[in-house]
Amino acid sequence: MLHFPEGFHWGSATAAHQIEGNNVSSDWWRREHLTGSTIAEPSLDACDSYHRFREDMQVLVDAGLSMYRFSIEWARIEPEKGFVSQAELAHYRRMVLAARELGLEPMITLHHFTIPQWFEDEGGWRAPDAVERFAFYTQTVLPVLEGVEWVCTINEPNMVAMMAGGDGQGTTLQAFGQPGPDVNVAQTLLEAHRACRAVLAEAGDFRTGWTVATQDFQPEPGCEEIARDYGYHRDAWYLEMAAGDDWVGVQAYTRTKIGPEGPLPIADGAELTLTGWEFYPRALEDGIRLSHEMAPGVPVFVTENGIATDDDTRRVAYMQGALEGLHRAITDGITVEGFLYWSLLDNYEWGSYGPTFGLVSVDRTTFVRTVKPSARWLGDVAAANALAV
Ligand code: NOJ
Repeated sequence: MLHFPEGFHWGSATAAHQIEGNNVSSDWWRREHLTGSTIAEPSLDACDSYHRFREDMQVLVDAGLSMYRFSIEWARIEPEKGFVSQAELAHYRRMVLAARELGLEPMITLHHFTIPQWFEDEGGWRAPDAVERFAFYTQTVLPVLEGVEWVCTINEPNMVAMMAGGDGQGTTLQAFGQPGPDVNVAQTLLEAHRACRAVLAEAGDFRTGWTVATQDFQPEPGCEEIARDYGYHRDAWYLEMAAGDDWVGVQAYTRTKIGPEGPLPIADGAELTLTGWEFYPRALEDGIRLSHEMAPGVPVFVTENGIATDDDTRRVAYMQGALEGLHRAITDGITVEGFLYWSLLDNYEWGSYGPTFGLVSVDRTTFVRTVKPSARWLGDVAAANALAV
């Protein structure tokens, strides 16, 4: 048996837009409904978790898990600039209290990809007052966060900066002829994160951090420097900037090999998941080690790790491999605070319901939840705080 440290957190994660349904004031909702949208399918009712959040939390508890990471939706709380919906604040407060009543430790994400449409109209993270807007939003949600310990300010800022597109503006990705992160957006996100941290630090005793997509860029022989440079601009810089935070989130799924020209296609014959990514559970260990290297002394929290598959036995195999790697990192002296599987539910994977990541499936018509064996498997690991090998 591989034993995990006492107090290690076991749970699962979701994000508002992907599960709640009808996030009508958000940029994503608008994008999904634009004529000629390239998005395959709109989110619509998602998993209707806006109304079924108690049931979803109960599933976690019944499985034996003790932490639930979910996000609160800026677009609901501030659907119009400067207008704060007391009803939505009350809704999210009810969620926090429900988690507590059920004995679940909540981890709250303040920003998980979606922004209010009005903010997008003003330029989003390129708006001149973006940092102030995010600080204002943080200030307004303080009543929701009363008694909450774990707060994630911004989810995957590196993916947000990538999605903001741009031409790589001076990053080495340009050398590969690829779009890179918008470095101005990256800088703004960092400032927004710090402004948010400052508001939280003033208001209470929170443990705050941000969560980074660690994509495990692996060099082909002789390409070590290229891979390092590539990975630095894509991921590692965001880990480095977490130095001084209370913790940093690692979100790992797969690897990408780097050759002289940049990313290489997945090798023929590799096992693929429903997102088209390579089945590579070891990515988690590598992400944790990278995080420790870039921000030594900052505890790591695995805030996402999972696999999109319709074969639940592969999900268990994936978690087994990932957790063995996580344990090796702990054995080597790296502090890891917990493991949150992505995701609790089969949900809206940013454009499609196809890739099913969930420990629980959701009927797309009736929204009936069916717990998969992998949920119980993870619950058993949590109950033992140990992994059989
Ligand atoms: C990262 C994102 O935070 C989450 O929203 C997404 O669904 C998963 N990874 C899987 O792609």
